[in-house]
Amino acid sequence: SRTLYFSRHGESEYNVLGKVGGDADLSPRGYQYADSLAEYVNGTLGNTPGFKLWTSCLKRTIQTAKNIEAPREHLDALNELDTGVCDGLTYEEIAERYPIEFAARDDDKFHYRYPEGESYFDLLLRVKPVLDRLKVENNVLVIAHQAVLRCLLAALLKKDEKELPYIHTPLHTVMRLSFKPADGGCHLDLIPLSI
Ligand code: G3H
Repeated sequence: SRTLYFSRHGESEYNVLGKVGGDADLSPRGYQYADSLAEYVNGTLGNTPGFKLWTSCLKRTIQTAKNIEAPREHLDALNELDTGVCDGLTYEEIAERYPIEFAARDDDKFHYRYPEGESYFDLLLRVKPVLDRLKVENNVLVIAHQAVLRCLLAALLKKDEKELPYIHTPLHTVMRLSFKPADGGCHLDLIPLSI
C-alpha cells in the first residue's frame, strides 16, 4: 500500500484580502501553519525512507515548505490556475467588472476559461505529467493550491468534471490519500492542524 499527502499553502496575504491569483507572501497565520505543518510532517514522516516534497514555484508554497526536512522539487506545473485578466481582483470586483464572465463561470466552472488565463480543464492537462509521476510514488507531500489540488484529487479519486471544481480543500489541513493494494481503491483523510 502507498500513501500520498497534499496540502494547500498556508493563508496568504491575497487570501486575507479575498483576491485571486498573484504571487503573495504568507500572512502571519500562514507562517504559523508552515510551522505546524513542519512539526507534523517532520514528526510523522521525518524518518520515512524516500519521503519527498513537491511544491509549486510560487512564494506561498515555498514558504509553507520551508521548515520541512525533505528533499524538494519546485514544479511550474503545480502553479495555481491562471486567472488571466482577473488576476489580483476579488470575486466581488470580478462580478462588477466582468458580469457576463462571472455568470459564465458559474454556469460551467470546469470548462470556463478566464480571458487570457486558464480553465480547470486546461489545468487538468497541465498537471497530467505530475499525475503520471504520482501514480507510482509513495510518501510524497505535494504543497500546492486549491484549484491544482482539486485536479489532482479528482483524478486520483475518480471524481467527474462536474464535481471537480467544487471539491472541498480547506486551508491549514493535511489531506492524506491511502491506496489499498487489494482493489486499487483509495481513502482520503482530512487532518486539520491547529495553528
Ligand atoms: O483562483 C483559484 C482558486 O484557488 C480556485 O478557486 O476556482 O473556486 O474560484 P475557485
